Amino acid sequence: MNSIEKQVEEILSKLSLKEKIGQLNQQETPVGEEVESFKEQVRNGEIGSILMSVGATAGNDAQGAVNVKFYNELQRIAVEESRSGIPILFGRDVIHGHRTVFPIPLAMTASFNEELIEKAYEDISREASNDSIHWTFTPMLDLSRDPRWGRIIEGTGEDPYLGSVFAKAAVKGLQGDNPADKDRILACAKHFLGYGASEGGRDYNRTEISDYTLNNYYIPAFKSAVSAGVKTVMSAFNDISGQPVTSSKYYLTDILRDRLGFDGFVVSDYDAVCQLARQGVAENDADCAELALKAGLDMDMHDKVYLNELENLVKSGRVSTDTIDNAVRRVLKVKILKGLFENPYCERREYDISKHREDAKELAAESVVLLKNNGVLPLDKSANVGLVGPFVHERRSLMGSWMLDGKAEETPTVYETIKAKSEGSVVSVNGTGLSWDSSLKWMYNTDVTVLCLGESWTATGEFRSQAEVSLAPDQIKLIEKARSTGKKVVGVLFCGRPVAMQGIAENFDALLLAWHGGSEVASAVADIIYGDTVPCGRMPMTVIRESTHIPMYYNVTSSGRPVNCYYGENAGECYIDSLATPYYPFGFGLSYTEFNYGDIKCDKKEIALNELKEGKKFKISIDIKNDGEFDGKETVQLYIHDKLASFMRPIKELKAFKKVLFKKGETATVDFEIGFDDLGFYLPNGEYTVEKGEIEVFIGKDCLTDRKITVLIK
Ligand code: NOJ
Repeated sequence: MNSIEKQVEEILSKLSLKEKIGQLNQQETPVGEEVESFKEQVRNGEIGSILMSVGATAGNDAQGAVNVKFYNELQRIAVEESRSGIPILFGRDVIHGHRTVFPIPLAMTASFNEELIEKAYEDISREASNDSIHWTFTPMLDLSRDPRWGRIIEGTGEDPYLGSVFAKAAVKGLQGDNPADKDRILACAKHFLGYGASEGGRDYNRTEISDYTLNNYYIPAFKSAVSAGVKTVMSAFNDISGQPVTSSKYYLTDILRDRLGFDGFVVSDYDAVCQLARQGVAENDADCAELALKAGLDMDMHDKVYLNELENLVKSGRVSTDTIDNAVRRVLKVKILKGLFENPYCERREYDISKHREDAKELAAESVVLLKNNGVLPLDKSANVGLVGPFVHERRSLMGSWMLDGKAEETPTVYETIKAKSEGSVVSVNGTGLSWDSSLKWMYNTDVTVLCLGESWTATGEFRSQAEVSLAPDQIKLIEKARSTGKKVVGVLFCGRPVAMQGIAENFDALLLAWHGGSEVASAVADIIYGDTVPCGRMPMTVIRESTHIPMYYNVTSSGRPVNCYYGENAGECYIDSLATPYYPFGFGLSYTEFNYGDIKCDKKEIALNELKEGKKFKISIDIKNDGEFDGKETVQLYIHDKLASFMRPIKELKAFKKVLFKKGETATVDFEIGFDDLGFYLPNGEYTVEKGEIEVFIGKDCLTDRKITVLIK
């Protein structure tokens, strides 16, 4: 037994059953008249954790600022007035920023820059920990192929490898090497498992996922979070093929703990335990509590079902004290690891917010994807610019949803940042209630029209799915009007999701996807528009032509009939009435400079399977030259295709990437190593296998690259 285990046992041995159950109970912050009775609950040892927000969909509503004094007072009651003296764990949804707001996670992923993502989460944890927060419900690692799903903004898109890279960066950034550090907070990998596959993109909907698909697509990011040392996991609302995850021992224990090796605690999603009755697998609250606890769900968020039911369940013999003790052990262990017993209170510390703003700007800039450029960008600073559209003076939506503590008034607008840089004239026409004639007039008098369009933050987030992923009709009309002036038209899209581009992208001379990019996105956009920053973001999801094409994702298996439309094969025939290729593929993004790729080289043609297992690797390299007029960053992507396997393998799967800065005119060699962990796949039973045979290795700018070599596993 190590010292932490000893400490856990010591605390546990002194707890009554009621106090143990209290540790498994999380309630939300009390308001108004609830406060006094809540304090009494704390005194009685009934509150193990507090959810520092109010309501089921916290990210959709304005939440009050954190009241540190109030939380310190609740903590004081727990530590000094409750019999056990166990501190409370405070958790809040700090999803992509606290005071400083970073890009939404989907946009962070578009940066393909794990170092910046890690740094962002380090900044976030520094700010959040200074506001009583010990624990955040981030990262959301739900792979999704459906931009209709409102929560797409919180995830990392359609690729398991990218998701795994993000998972590691976020967990390391938040928890650091030691989560007990006062500047760090605990991470929570959520929602385990399959939530991003909600049918039709309708939130909370059922999912149908085979074990093969779960293992190869949905589980890897969670595996990566566990390897990075994530201390908590949140279970998902959904069922998978008829089995609610909340009550599934198979998912929460057999896979999460036994297979992936997770050793922290599992918290339910909000009210998910009592919802087992609505899902039709439990008759009443007692059944719900019994099923969830026995499945391996340790802490019950908000619905008080554990608090109200577990004592009787133990007394009646339906739940053993051992089962309760094991859950409590896991919660106590995480509290100890967080250093709560030494430092239960929040003591405010100074931090350099201007440094965080700089980091937010750098990440926002690297997240922006240049989708199209006919040479109009970057603009000359002397150009006369007309800024038109509903996002010219917008602040709040730039920060996105699931943002509880940023301040819109501290978020500059596009108008402000362009005006600050321009040496020409800048006129603006705000989009809301547009008068077409006046906007046209402005457009004729300028050199270039910059249309600032997008979707409101209220069109994204939890329980905010959309049947059609497009721009609003009045914005599309505005694009057509701008086009009709014959002037150059640049589009800047502030969206939470990639929208369907047919009928939109054609009308622009240049198009930037700036996402809901956070506190500093408008500054980043101005730098890019004037060429002070060279764009380098890449699409973490396919950009579709029409909403009716969903789902469309790059890592599909090959069809027996020649209909691999994603890769252009009979793409005009997959639908009789529509071209079934992506508008922009996964991994796509342009630059102001031009990168030319040489041939792929590999140090060997073949490796025996046994040698691969022992750690031998293929060393692969490629020479790339920056032939353009700017210094710039290139994201070099490596995909593989297992040509012949016992299960169908994807036509392309991303296995590595490197983001490299090339000086103008510079040639550099980019190296990769791929080995056993990259060349195999998971069988339905979760076993990882590498099979003998040929593997095609592709390197390029996006998933459509056909630059390849073939290596052999003997
Ligand atoms: C429900 C959401 O699904 C979850 O992601 C969030 O952390 C909780 N509510 C708490 O707000």
